[in-house]
Amino acid sequence: MPEPARDLVRIRALGKRFDSRKGLFGKRRSLKAVSDVTLDIPRGKVTGVVGESGCGKSTLARLVVRLLRPSDGNVMFDGVDLGRLSNREMRRLRRRIQMVFQDPYSAIDPRYTVADALLEPFQVQGTRLSAQQARDKVTELLAMVRLGQELARSYPHQLSGGQRQRIGIARALAFKPDFLVLDEPTASLDVSIQAQIIALLEQLKAELGLTYLFISHDLGLVRYFCDRIVVMYLGRVVEVLPAPRAKPRHPYTRTLLDSTFAPDPTQRRDISRLTGEIASAYDLPAGCAFAARCAFADETCRARVPLLAADPDGHAVACFHPLT
Ligand SMILES: Nc1ncnc2c1ncn2[C@@H]1O[C@H](COP(=O)(O)OP(=O)(O)OP(=O)(O)O)[C@@H](O)[C@H]1O
Ligand code: SF4
Ligand SMILES: [Mg+2]
Repeated sequence: MPEPARDLVRIRALGKRFDSRKGLFGKRRSLKAVSDVTLDIPRGKVTGVVGESGCGKSTLARLVVRLLRPSDGNVMFDGVDLGRLSNREMRRLRRRIQMVFQDPYSAIDPRYTVADALLEPFQVQGTRLSAQQARDKVTELLAMVRLGQELARSYPHQLSGGQRQRIGIARALAFKPDFLVLDEPTASLDVSIQAQIIALLEQLKAELGLTYLFISHDLGLVRYFCDRIVVMYLGRVVEVLPAPRAKPRHPYTRTLLDSTFAPDPTQRRDISRLTGEIASAYDLPAGCAFAARCAFADETCRARVPLLAADPDGHAVACFHPLT
């Protein structure tokens, strides 16, 4: 048997444009939420994606699981080009590719019991289960996310935020997927609950051999949880750190990192704070989108978009003047 390819997912030149019009007769505006993203997601690893609000993390996530269709480029999953699949083929493949969303409250219909919520994926997939099989599935899925069987008859409003997110994860596991895209799965939870969910995700990954794409705006959390880190800025990947402790070379990542590790304001003397305005996604500047906030920006930066270039270790930076 040939070895499976190292990368479970290959993303090539992926882009997504959203068109909108202000008012009935307003000018049509186009926003590039994701631009020219090329990225490989290795099997069995946690790839983190970080960046500020609006930089395109969720759009990237939705493109990768094909909840959105790209404007440009493509996504290959285990050698299959998702863009070439019929809706039916995609529905079948969806068993292997699952997404866990940010807000556990909205994922579950308030009128559904936990058991209903856990069985819904089987309905969506058209999988018929006998009453006994359904009970067994609910038992198995609750056990997988370390919840007691007595919760099966509860309603979402009777659960805590952490329990609801465990149900969200259990639903995603219904068909034993290979790949989970986790879009800020712990963002609405208290720090202690967040830690429990991360621990659960670590255990599940080891038990089930999962591959994760983990999205967060919290670089500290991503550094703790992920094997490699992708940094986005205004729709583009600006840096890929091949290891969580790799020293950032992009000025933006460096600033992000500095601000993450100085929670005490009195310790923030050395931090090169982000100054300058964040460029508008509707009206991106010609060159590097970070130029207005970057202390190292020069004429080249303002004229051309820096492309992502990787060194032999897999550390990739999109910057004309990377830091050492
Ligand atoms: N359906 C849509 N129509 C128009 N614009 C959209 C749509 N979805 C997202 N956008 C815009 O695309 C950009 C990227 O949004 P996205 O939700 O991907 O960012 P994000 O990094 O996930 O942000 P956050 O950290 O706040 O979740 C934003 O400017 C957003 O307003
Ligand atoms: S390309 Fe220029 S402006 Fe952009 S991050 Fe690098 S140094 Fe700063
Ligand atoms: Mg988002």
